[in-house]
Amino acid sequence: MVSMDTLVSLCKRRGFVFQSSEIYGGTGSCWDYGPLGVELKGNIKRVWWRDFVQRRPDMVGIDASILMHPTVWKASGHLENFTDPMVDCRECKLRFRADQVDALPWTHFCPATKGNKFTIPPGEPCGHCAARRTLCPDCGKGELTPPRQFNLMFKTFMGPVEEDAAVTYLRPETAQAMFVNFENVLQSMRLKLPFGIAQAGRSFRNEITPGNFIFRSREFEQMEIEYFVNPHDRVEDRPADEYWHDRWIADCLAWFRRYGLRDENLRLREHDRDELSHYSKRTVDIDYRFPIGWSELMGVANRTDFDLKQHAKWSGKSLSYFDEERKEHVVPYVVEPAAGVDRALLAFLADAYAEEEVRGEKRVVLRFHPELAPVKVAVLPLSRNADLSPKARDLAAALRKRWNTDFDDASAIGRRYRRQDEIGTPYCITVDFDTLEDQAVTVRDRDTMQQERVGIDALEGYLAERLGPC
Ligand code: GAP
Repeated sequence: MVSMDTLVSLCKRRGFVFQSSEIYGGTGSCWDYGPLGVELKGNIKRVWWRDFVQRRPDMVGIDASILMHPTVWKASGHLENFTDPMVDCRECKLRFRADQVDALPWTHFCPATKGNKFTIPPGEPCGHCAARRTLCPDCGKGELTPPRQFNLMFKTFMGPVEEDAAVTYLRPETAQAMFVNFENVLQSMRLKLPFGIAQAGRSFRNEITPGNFIFRSREFEQMEIEYFVNPHDRVEDRPADEYWHDRWIADCLAWFRRYGLRDENLRLREHDRDELSHYSKRTVDIDYRFPIGWSELMGVANRTDFDLKQHAKWSGKSLSYFDEERKEHVVPYVVEPAAGVDRALLAFLADAYAEEEVRGEKRVVLRFHPELAPVKVAVLPLSRNADLSPKARDLAAALRKRWNTDFDDASAIGRRYRRQDEIGTPYCITVDFDTLEDQAVTVRDRDTMQQERVGIDALEGYLAERLGPC
């Protein structure tokens, strides 16, 4: 598996991801997507939206504002429950998540070696004096405060006055907008259960211990679905919510596989009872084997009727569904597949990365699924030449109408192929001197490196067949 350092360095070098405000020393755990990153991220969101919203008769989408009414967060339980226990070092003032301190390597000034400084692996005692960590893992000197609950929502003020009445929050999840818009969407679209509302957009969490590149940041994007079912229905002899929960887990897993994540890097993880969020009856994570080890890629929760009931209570509005057959009002249950765009991008990047030796030279290649690849085609004239370059530029301009197309006529052809391999471009098209005679080009496949001669007339069809609907 590729290391995180290798990915971070590739992302910076080739314009996928930069540290936010880097020239000022960076902003804590915020990241900027560069020219290739924004394409890759856009492709992930577009394919997800197409597959889960546009291609399904039972799904619709919304795009809600990030700032919501502050009561939303009282009703949802986020004000009370969206907290992490944190401890502070009394000496260096660093802050840690109480439940993660023991998983950190720790600094120790060992009395058995005249106070020499050691960095000891997580959970292990000192090899010289057998002491275990009691102080700050970072500075090794300060005592840690008792754990205190820390709310992860970013507070802000609506309007020109900074007073308590104007306090609101940046949304920590996109989900709540689907609940507060339930009635609007139901009525305007005349939907029948079961149906889902999807949204992709930014969320914000003031994580105590962000890190590991874009895996955990303070500003990130989510792609969430709230799938409403009638809890009185049964499907295949099971309660509808339980049936749909398993169905969504399987569909999401299949989606990640379809776009390139390998089976051996995916697993399901059932949440223990004491780990469940305050709203959840059952949650299953789809974990991915990231360069940092197995970690959550997305979660699929059965949120029951918790959210609709809470918002009905706090808003005073009825948030129910009229079941025509049974002639009764029912508060739907909700199954929630919740994915992180940035984590998905990191997983696709890690799984696509390969290093190979080709004719004694190292080749780095990103084997992205063609629909995810940021650049689909590169047009490369064999050499910079008064006849070849214009011909190649015209071809690139024609292909650009349909696909994100690169043009590169600098340096040797072999180096240009390597540059395209490293950003995952599925096809390179070489315009050579024969092209001027036979109106054909050489198409090179990124994965097999096989080359094929294709007539310019047939090129668009050839690529469309291989690149998919894009
Ligand atoms: N509405 C439910 C919800 O938000 P979550 O498990 O807290 O559930 C869903 O978040 C997904 O959002 C996670 O599986 C992860 O992919 C992504 N995510 C959550 N916190 C994140 C963070 N700080 N940075 C990047 N992605 C994050």
